[in-house]
Amino acid sequence: MSRIPSLLTLAALTATLAMGCDYYGGGEMPVLDSAVGGSPSPPPSPSAPPQVQSIVPADGATGVPLSAGVTITFSQSMDPATITTANLTLSRAAGPVAAGVQLAPDQTTTTITPVSPLAGSTAYTVTVTTGATSASGLPMAADFTSSFTTGADIDSTPPTFAGATGATATGGSTINVQWAAASDNVTPAGQIVYRLYAATASGAQNFSTPTATTAPGATSFVLTGLMGNTTYFIVVRAQDSSGNVDSNANQVNATTNAPRSYLTHVWPVLNAKCVRCHKSGGDRPFWDTASLAYTNSVNVDAKNPDPAWKIVKPFSSAWSTMYDRCTPANLSGGFMPESGTPLTATELSNMRAWIDEGALNN
Ligand code: HEC
Repeated sequence: MSRIPSLLTLAALTATLAMGCDYYGGGEMPVLDSAVGGSPSPPPSPSAPPQVQSIVPADGATGVPLSAGVTITFSQSMDPATITTANLTLSRAAGPVAAGVQLAPDQTTTTITPVSPLAGSTAYTVTVTTGATSASGLPMAADFTSSFTTGADIDSTPPTFAGATGATATGGSTINVQWAAASDNVTPAGQIVYRLYAATASGAQNFSTPTATTAPGATSFVLTGLMGNTTYFIVVRAQDSSGNVDSNANQVNATTNAPRSYLTHVWPVLNAKCVRCHKSGGDRPFWDTASLAYTNSVNVDAKNPDPAWKIVKPFSSAWSTMYDRCTPANLSGGFMPESGTPLTATELSNMRAWIDEGALNN
């Protein structure tokens, strides 16, 4: 049984995130360029404690659907090892609510997904303790709490739903899953949400924690962060606004594409366009050979002082300076190559996909 593997891998990365930044480059310190658009937005100072930037349902919200989960956005990248059910809780007067906690690959968006629907007309409290720390190891300044109240429970009949109709691999780490809209006795079709459960073995889905939950009314969804060259078996279930979920077990499956290859898709580009400056005796990072370029980049702290940036951060091109500095946004420092021919669109998209597929040494 396996769900999104990138979350596990991110947990394994925390050891490297804790490493100090050993290279500040004095006068060469890159300046974040706020004049250019695109994502990600310039990272905030890592020396400020992390804060909850937004929460859905909002503090004081009423009439919240019984199917709701909680989405919390932090002000900066968080340490995945601290985003746990011990530090992020959902509770009501009767006690804590069983729920799963997941930090998205962006490391700022966290979801709390209750195992069962919420109770009707009930006040709930979300708590984030100071045990939750930023990627740079700083705790929140104080415990955070927020409350909301659910709407009345007027419906106990699950939607009528035929389940998933198809799945198509769209890359080395993505699968598009499709279905026809469900119907419900109370909830309009446009308000029905869908839970996707993925496993790498037939019938091995864990129905207590969805791999992903869609926006209301969706009839397809792209699963991301999957392993390359791997078959996923996927069940989709429909959930109405009262939290009733149908129980179909119809599986569809698809096999992700072979992942991008470092030696085929990335190294030749570095060798042709970057190594003339980035080699021993020249400018860091040193990329003299394919294997040096790999070990001097993957999980290596970038010169940018925000520890969220790595030269290559597996599964996160958005926080990888190797990719970022070759894009027009170049949020982490000056545009690369400093002189010479910029990367072509194909070279850039291969580099991005290689990183987002886990930056394999392949
Ligand atoms: C003409 C020389 C030159 C070329 C070619 C060049 N770079 Fe650079 N690069 C530099 C210099 C100088 C620095 C240090 C100053 C800075 O950070 O901007 C640097 C810094 C970087 C950094 C920041 C390293 C760190 O420690 O965080 C990255 C990433 C980078 N380059 C990527 C590339 C990539 C990818 C290419 C090829 C597409 C490339 N560079 C081509 C001169 C070059």
